[in-house]
Amino acid sequence: MNILSFETVAEVADYAAKEIMNAIKGFTPTPEKPYLVLGLPTGSTPIPVYERLIRAYQNEEISFKNVMTFNMDEYIGLTPDHPQSYHYFMQENLFKYVDIPPKNIHIPDGMANNIPAFCLSYEQAIKDAGGIDIQLAGIGENGHLAFNEPDTTFNTPTHEQALTQSTIEANSRFFDKIEDVPTKAITIGLKTIFEARRIIVLATGSKKVEAIHLSTKGPISVKCPASMLQNHSNVEFVCDKKALER
Ligand code: PGA
Repeated sequence: MNILSFETVAEVADYAAKEIMNAIKGFTPTPEKPYLVLGLPTGSTPIPVYERLIRAYQNEEISFKNVMTFNMDEYIGLTPDHPQSYHYFMQENLFKYVDIPPKNIHIPDGMANNIPAFCLSYEQAIKDAGGIDIQLAGIGENGHLAFNEPDTTFNTPTHEQALTQSTIEANSRFFDKIEDVPTKAITIGLKTIFEARRIIVLATGSKKVEAIHLSTKGPISVKCPASMLQNHSNVEFVCDKKALER
């Protein structure tokens, strides 16, 4: 596991965006593997990375024509046009500005009638795409990855997840009132994340200190889901100083 320390949020984003841009530039589609597959997060932390990817597209440095994406999660019960849905977030923060073919975008359907069947189909779609090449991730204050909350077992695939009070409180800043925050989500599983070939975890700000400490130096435990990454062969925690200073 690599822990990278940068002075500023901007440098964290520069690094992560450059790694993704290099992967896009270096990718040659073949009939067997037509797309570079990115796993993408929502949240505040990745926004500066998306800004840099948009700028690179606008400067004609990269194209998303050969990119396929799988988002990590979505709230259950929010329609894609709900301003707090992750469908909406992704449109507003990345997709509407770049040339990714709409058919290559995958985001869990929080309005699916049959959630277990949807979860199976999402997992299968990732497999059919040949797996995730680069999984970009944020990390929760409680060490969650996507919505895999503490006590989620490491071998879970995409599934329905009840959100913990800590996550509901952290995310309530985006809603008018805490009662409006959905209490359930569809999330890719810890197994899905672990199967990615390369994982880049972003952490900025002092609120992430404990999560980063436990994930990288604590015991590997379901109490801190991101600690499972200690066993992954290609993972980087890309942090600013504040997320590392205890
Ligand atoms: P944040 O969320 O980037 O908004 O801090 C990260 C997460 O909860 O996974």
